Amino acid sequence: LARGDLTRDLAGRHVVVSAGGTREPLDPVRFLGNRSSGKQGYALARSAAARGARVTLVAANAALPDPAGVDVVPVGTAVQLREAVLKAAADADAVVMAAAVADFRPETYAAGKIKKQDGQEPAPIALVRNPDILAEIAGERARPGQVIVGFAAETDDVLANGRAKLARKGCDLLVVNEVGERKTFGAEENEAVVLGADGSETGVPYGPKEALADVVWDLVAERLS
Ligand code: CTP
Ligand code: CA
Repeated sequence: LARGDLTRDLAGRHVVVSAGGTREPLDPVRFLGNRSSGKQGYALARSAAARGARVTLVAANAALPDPAGVDVVPVGTAVQLREAVLKAAADADAVVMAAAVADFRPETYAAGKIKKQDGQEPAPIALVRNPDILAEIAGERARPGQVIVGFAAETDDVLANGRAKLARKGCDLLVVNEVGERKTFGAEENEAVVLGADGSETGVPYGPKEALADVVWDLVAERLS
């Protein structure tokens, strides 16, 4: 379909999009975080709403305005994001995990602010693994035929890494970005390859995040029909 065509191909569908980056608190004033702006996930939510879907946007720390007509669920940590995604996914036709989920969180949370001690080196920060939300929802689908989409930023052998990750996660589609200068983090534009579990490979040229969002929904809609 040409861009700009008025398609309501997601009418009657419920889709869930996660966006932004999780923050894992160390103490009341500090966290471990990442550079995800949330722009790609918000573009996905806007695009799906424009195509007629009911959209739940699970938003982790994105400083962006709520898209019109979208149900926004704000979250902070990976554990909170998991809860919100699992709840919304229960009756969803598709779930797109665009959020950058922290792989690790501090093992302990200090209820009071961590202070320097005179003449003492800082204590190391112990980390523990966070749950892998994408692998969990793809491995045990809330509904038969539910379409699950992941995102991955890769370096080096981008496609081989992407293929291996798609298989490991068990999702239907994986949007793979090459990380580099002016790409991905905070940028307005993006370039990607969308890998399908069916072996398909869809290149998306450098362009606005809206264009990549539309390609993702085209591929999701094909798999839903
Ligand atoms: N993801 C997730 N839960 C996690 C980590 C990642 O759901 N704990 C999702 C992301 O939202 C994304 C996809 O998995 O859609 C791939 O994330 P990525 O960080 O590339 O995957 P990892 O398995 O964490 O691999 P790596 O070791 O390369 O970071
Ligand atoms: Ca990761």
